Amino acid sequence: MKDHLLIFDTTLRDGEQSPGASMTQEEKLRIAKQLERLRVDVIEAGFPAASNGDFEAVSAIAAAVKDSIVCGLARANDHDVRRAGEALRSAAAGRIHTFIATSPIHMERKLRMSPEQVIEQAVRAVRLAREYRDDVEFSPEDAGRSEVDFLCRILEQVIDAGATTINVPDTVGYTMPEQFGNLIRTLRERIPNADKVVWSVHCHNDLGLAVANSLSAVMAGARQVECTINGLGERAGNAALEEIVMAVRTRQDFFPCRTRVDTTQIMAASRLVSGITGFPVQPNKAIVGANAFAHESGIHQDGVIKNRETYEIMRAEDVGLTANRLVLGKLSGRNAFRQRLRELGIEPASEEAVNAAFARFKDLADRKSEIFDEDLQMLIGEEAVTHAHEHFKLVSLMARSETGETPSARVVLAADGAEHCAESLGSGPVDAIFRAIESVVTSNAELQLFSISNITSGTDSQGEVTVRLKKNGRIVNGLGADTDIVVASAKAYINALNKLHSTPEKLNPQL
Ligand code: KIV
Ligand code: ZN
Repeated sequence: MKDHLLIFDTTLRDGEQSPGASMTQEEKLRIAKQLERLRVDVIEAGFPAASNGDFEAVSAIAAAVKDSIVCGLARANDHDVRRAGEALRSAAAGRIHTFIATSPIHMERKLRMSPEQVIEQAVRAVRLAREYRDDVEFSPEDAGRSEVDFLCRILEQVIDAGATTINVPDTVGYTMPEQFGNLIRTLRERIPNADKVVWSVHCHNDLGLAVANSLSAVMAGARQVECTINGLGERAGNAALEEIVMAVRTRQDFFPCRTRVDTTQIMAASRLVSGITGFPVQPNKAIVGANAFAHESGIHQDGVIKNRETYEIMRAEDVGLTANRLVLGKLSGRNAFRQRLRELGIEPASEEAVNAAFARFKDLADRKSEIFDEDLQMLIGEEAVTHAHEHFKLVSLMARSETGETPSARVVLAADGAEHCAESLGSGPVDAIFRAIESVVTSNAELQLFSISNITSGTDSQGEVTVRLKKNGRIVNGLGADTDIVVASAKAYINALNKLHSTPEKLNPQL
């Protein structure tokens, strides 16, 4: 009989801490529903004390999700713990995750607290959390650089105070796999009440070792792994959920445990998170990269045709990559459209949302003969994005480029109930469009990233554009898609401007 390995997804909390990855409540809800379909055990839905928006988002997810535990993060203080407890009130199964730093450098420099004060605050927070929920997780932040004797002392006391899961974070991605596995083994052996809790790990990827460290911990007895879709997260990110899950599944000869994840939902989750956050997935990314299952070299193709196991250790279908992706065309009706959305696990919020998405679909089908699943996912995503933050709206645009001539653009934007028209020259049509938009909006934001990729193959594919803007220390990602990449670029730029206009500043729990 194999043990159960709990998968704790923190895309909506740690993932959202990546600069530019902040999401609206509606976007978080869509991701949470997909995580539930993926059958993760725990969804860390956010940090309720960060803002009213975060509190509302965690409450909404707690009310909507039935098949996964919904978790809220709280620093080890009364206010944060109470906010988390209140946000989780309607959760069928809810968990409070409280944490405090335990490494000498964090205690001395960040908290300015003595080790005894840290223990006292941790114990108090866990006791208070237990007044709200039976399921309480405690994390000693920066455990990877903490002293083992101190970890043993504090963890024994928080377990006595009622913690049910102990999560050991390698907050700065510093440890080596063997060392991290040994740390988990040592804690489990030395702490007298260690058998009363589930041991969990949370690894960051600063040295590219987050997945290796997590798996080493699993071999040392950890039975929960904290991870994110596509490895999203602060700095170099967290351990990638899809890599952890597929490693454990593919190497059942090696691991003493299994997960309950429905791996066929992995690709949909990956695309959804990448689409919403504007963080593209690199083509050679394990499991979910565009090339992960593409056997392009002649030798490999020959081997795969003779027997797929010569070069394939996993099947593309098992992660939700299907070969026949052609789904709808110009003549498809509303029912076929709705049916395909259902098959993709997409549930538009209302009948009005279905109608608006269907109108967009018809418009796209006029320009593109074959509509793929990826097009539909982008369409639904855009629909939600457009409605979420619409201060500036693209009314029309014209861009002109010709050899030997300076590219130019004219744009009409709607804002504050009026239409504004502007023209500009640029080094290319996209540059001209951005300059024209900027002359209307005057955001003075710094353009940090502009990237285009094709959503499907072929020159009639939609181009997906990501624009990252920075203003007064805030970073946002805008997204746009269209068969015309100049239009897609304008949409992405306007989407980013709308986010700058509406997204409130957030508190980072770890600063
Ligand atoms: O990396 C970290 O230490 C964290 C904690 C809040 C668990 O994200
Ligand atoms: Zn973290």
